[in-house]
Amino acid sequence: MRLIFLGPPGAGKGTIAEIAKKAFLIPHISTGDLFREHIKHDTSLGKEVKKILASGDLVPDSVTIEMVRERLGKEDAQSGFILDGFPRTIAQADALQGITEIDHACNFTAPKDLIIKRLSGRRVAKHSGKIYHLTYNPPKTPDVCDITGEPLIQRPDDREDAITNRLEVYHDQTAPLISYYHEKGLLRDIDASGTPEAIFDQVKEVLQK
Ligand code: AP5
Repeated sequence: MRLIFLGPPGAGKGTIAEIAKKAFLIPHISTGDLFREHIKHDTSLGKEVKKILASGDLVPDSVTIEMVRERLGKEDAQSGFILDGFPRTIAQADALQGITEIDHACNFTAPKDLIIKRLSGRRVAKHSGKIYHLTYNPPKTPDVCDITGEPLIQRPDDREDAITNRLEVYHDQTAPLISYYHEKGLLRDIDASGTPEAIFDQVKEVLQK
């Protein structure tokens, strides 16, 4: 199963992708996570993209497409994958067509005020990769990862000015992909305002269509 998870920042794509990867036994490939790994290891790509991610702008298409082409070429992606956060521009979607076929593009939607609450309350554990939320999914001990005990951090792009920019970038550059995949008959709308369990049930249902 070759899936794309589309949707605004904070819609919950990463949270549902983590549930789906275990259920479908396919890798969760998040371009945001791949860039953050490069930043963590201070690679030359990491140095190049660090400021771009913090501001909420998009990394140039050429860089992003090459990174995805390489990732999709790996063994574990040959029997399916969840692409989370890619494509994000029409140029990326066109390039993806030349790399692989897609079975479904799941379009996660949620009201703007809920998205802002989810982003501003998100906390992450850098090493375990686990995502928390101060209200909706708090750790057992405040500010500490349940798995590793490391302190939780706020992503630089989850601060107010970056959130505003990310929502604008989504509207201008990524939202046009909704009609792009609709015209191809691949778009599956998902109401992402409920619980993760209810959202994943919808995902399973639309994939049977
Ligand atoms: P990326 O990491 O992809 O960020 P994003 O798309 O903005 O998505 P998020 O990770 O913010 O949100 P999400 O929808 O995954 O929500 P989550 O599940 O975490 O990209 C970061 C940056 O990298 C970009 O800005 C850009 O610079 C660069 N980049 C990445 N891809 C690129 C590309 N293709 N081209 C160019 N540049 C690219 O949930 C959010 C919070 O809500 C969490 O706290 C979670 O616990 C909570 N939550 C989630 N679901 C629920 C629920 N159902 N109920 C209650 N709480 C929930």
